[in-house]
Amino acid sequence: MSKRFLLGAIAALTISSTLGATEFNLKENMFKLNNYMMLMQAGFIEGNKEKSLKAAEALGEESAKLLGNEDMMRKMLPPDKAHKANIATTSAHLITDNVEIIKSSKDNFRRETAQNAYLDIQRACMRCHNLVRDW
Ligand code: HEC
Repeated sequence: MSKRFLLGAIAALTISSTLGATEFNLKENMFKLNNYMMLMQAGFIEGNKEKSLKAAEALGEESAKLLGNEDMMRKMLPPDKAHKANIATTSAHLITDNVEIIKSSKDNFRRETAQNAYLDIQRACMRCHNLVRDW
């Protein structure tokens, strides 16, 4: 196998994986966010601090990656809703701020503060869903 061919193959692979990243499915990623929300809630209900914290951290990372990227959201939203992509960025900030509140209550776990932050995240999810769905 020539070196040139190998380089070409690597380039092709790189291109297809970048395409994969831009084409990635919004719904699938939303289910990921939802899963972390459910885990976080379960942690609060069960009084399992570590579970809530772990889910909050994972949610923060995922939401920054997904919602924090306005250009990507614009492409992923239904075409007639693309102009609302900035809502995603606002929501991402809201979610990040609240994840920070939850994380900062870690040492002296202030349950109510953390739970209120969780509810604010839930509100950010619903606010955007209402806007994109006009429902
Ligand atoms: C930028 C606005 C926006 C924000 C913020 C947002 N979503 Fe979504 N969500 C959408 C859109 C648009 C869809 C529809 C995707 C589709 O149908 O392909 C969706 C779909 C979903 C679905 C799939 C529901 C179905 O139709 O079957 C779930 C679950 C979900 N979101 C959970 C969440 C959670 C949890 C959060 C907060 C952590 C969140 N979303 C925040 C825009 C948003």
